[in-house]
Amino acid sequence: GDDGAEGTAAAGGGEELDLVTDGTLTVCSDVPYPPFEDFDESTESGYTGFDMDLVQAIADGLELELEVKDSSFDALQSGLALNAGQCDLVASAMTITEDRKENLDFTEGYYDSKQSLLVAEDSDIASIEDLAGRSVGVQQGTTGKAYTEENAPEADITTFPGDAEMWQAMQAGQVDALLQDLPVNLEHTREGDFTIVEEYSTDEQYGFAVKKGNTALVEAVDEQLQTLRDEGTYDEIYDTYFSE
Ligand code: ARG
Repeated sequence: GDDGAEGTAAAGGGEELDLVTDGTLTVCSDVPYPPFEDFDESTESGYTGFDMDLVQAIADGLELELEVKDSSFDALQSGLALNAGQCDLVASAMTITEDRKENLDFTEGYYDSKQSLLVAEDSDIASIEDLAGRSVGVQQGTTGKAYTEENAPEADITTFPGDAEMWQAMQAGQVDALLQDLPVNLEHTREGDFTIVEEYSTDEQYGFAVKKGNTALVEAVDEQLQTLRDEGTYDEIYDTYFSE
């Protein structure tokens, strides 16, 4: 017959995925984390940023609605949110690491990143060595936190749930420095009298994550990512957030 049951790519492929909510791609993200994720009531999803525009395009390609759930990063990187069935996909500027691969599966990398040290413009901190005995803010569960513990063991490390709290503490002078992903610290230099004194090449790549074993969704998202690259949409979205 012509029921088309053999065809998987006909309607973008979204219809045969096992989703938390039928017809919807439910995405967890720790917001705000500009320029990757932020709130924006003027957009279809209510969110904006590099990750958010990419997942909107991916949902469109799969002919699914997009729903974004603001979640704590630590619950995202540990696999907790995915295992609890809170979302299908994590899009949260999340670095692909071997440790995390034990608890969740990643798509192909979609962004190269590194770490960085942000201080006030008039600070005497010029490098990571100067953090000894000084306070530095990091985010719970992140590669930036691990990097700081490893490379600045003498620092007084304060752990925050998210970037919003870190940035607030920095502006209030409650911490002397922030160590986290370069693009996010760079975003903060545009909002105040702060500067990046060091960058660390950690060879990090962000990937979208799914519940361990959900290969169908990894393949569907990777296929969409490839299409977005081929059609120039990836570059357009990239230029929206990363052109000077
Ligand atoms: N890339 C870093 C990591 O994977 C930090 C990500 C934090 N993301 C966020 N949306 N708060 O550990």
